[in-house]
Amino acid sequence: MDKIVIEGGQRLEGEVAISGAKNAALPILMAALLTDGWCKFSNVPDLRDIRSTIEILEYLGARVEKQDHLVRVDGSGLRRDEAPYDIVRKMRASVLVLGPLVARLGRARVSLPGGCAIGARPINLHLQGLARLGAEINLSHGYVEASCNRLRGAEIYFDVATVTGTENLMMAATLAKGKTVLRNAAREPEVVALADALNSMGARISGAGTAEVVVNGVEDLSPAEIEIIPDRIETGTFMTAAVITGGDVLIRRCIPRHVEAIAEKLRLAGATIETGKDNIHVKGSQAIESVDVKTLPYPGFPTDMQAQFMALMAVAKGHSLITETIFENRFIHVSELRRLGADITVSGNTALVRGVERLSGAPVMATDLRASASLVLAGLVAEGTTVINRVYHLDRGYESLESKFADLGAAIKRVA
Ligand code: EPU
Repeated sequence: MDKIVIEGGQRLEGEVAISGAKNAALPILMAALLTDGWCKFSNVPDLRDIRSTIEILEYLGARVEKQDHLVRVDGSGLRRDEAPYDIVRKMRASVLVLGPLVARLGRARVSLPGGCAIGARPINLHLQGLARLGAEINLSHGYVEASCNRLRGAEIYFDVATVTGTENLMMAATLAKGKTVLRNAAREPEVVALADALNSMGARISGAGTAEVVVNGVEDLSPAEIEIIPDRIETGTFMTAAVITGGDVLIRRCIPRHVEAIAEKLRLAGATIETGKDNIHVKGSQAIESVDVKTLPYPGFPTDMQAQFMALMAVAKGHSLITETIFENRFIHVSELRRLGADITVSGNTALVRGVERLSGAPVMATDLRASASLVLAGLVAEGTTVINRVYHLDRGYESLESKFADLGAAIKRVA
């Protein structure tokens, strides 16, 4: 199994281009199931989760062609209504087929994703929403079975704003009869990107990016050409990497507006950050200041950046409190950061990070994508060698991570 080996202590300098957003690409590729004919997607990141998505689409009967960052999907062959356990267990976002399948075929059988390393992650709100749209929902043998004639528009209130829940229901509602209103909808940029993609296929969605999304159902959708937006979490990860190494990095092909909460915290930590139209120039300072952070739904500080920010605070001057409010178990990186010499105490959903002068390299592993990214950042500044095991977690969500860091001057390589 591949490992990443880092010799810490190199300052990052230069330019890096951000890839397409994983969490925008996943639902947008699934949305191709809502139409017949070839949809064309550009700037699709080359990631394990994208390959898993293609596997599901093909399993369901869609035709898929992939060439580098261009993916074409034709949903006209859609014939199966089932996403089996063996596919869903590899990637819980597979649950995003539920909305398109019910809308298109009037039925779906999708394996329940179960918990994962960061929390229980139920899908009750996806199912309650589908039931409001008129689907009959049954749970049996670990599967969700949904069936209906044609979905009917309805008013749906989410008691927790859920990203993939909002996306699933938005996709389902595009082909429902009448108007659907989603209240307390997730406002993440990936939700807006999906709404834009669906609208370019002929859907009638307004309000995406606010807490109230209105979907006026249409009879059918047509194929479209869609460019995937840049990944804001990859952007934030490189911004934090620049600061932790006291570096000077120009981050290109990104959307500065999507990372404002991260930029603000990094400024408070002492960084100088200048934003252009589609680029961000980040300069670290000699000393990193401690800053408290609380994860929140967008536009708050993203939970997907909490682990990376904790790595930064591990080498800051003073103490910081990091509070995780989205997922109940998202501190798995703490014990691994401690192996590198970090001084962190967890109590409930809060971590107290006491900055240390230096970290020291060690073999580490993580059980989740963003936790692995935090270990890479820590490895960049730890004295000596850090070996990161279970690299497949990183490959799920970061394209060419080690070569992008190596191009910025890091001493990092992948070994088999
Ligand atoms: N929740 C419920 N019931 C539901 C759905 C969600 O209680 O039916 C709760 C969750 O347990 C959690 C909160 O609502 O406490 C928010 O979870 P959400 O549903 O928004 O998360 P998600 O849609 O499963 C997406 C991203 C995650 C990201 C979260 C939060 C995708 C494919 N995944 O997950 O990304 O952390 O939103 O922003 O978009 C990652 O990329 O590493 C990753 C985990």
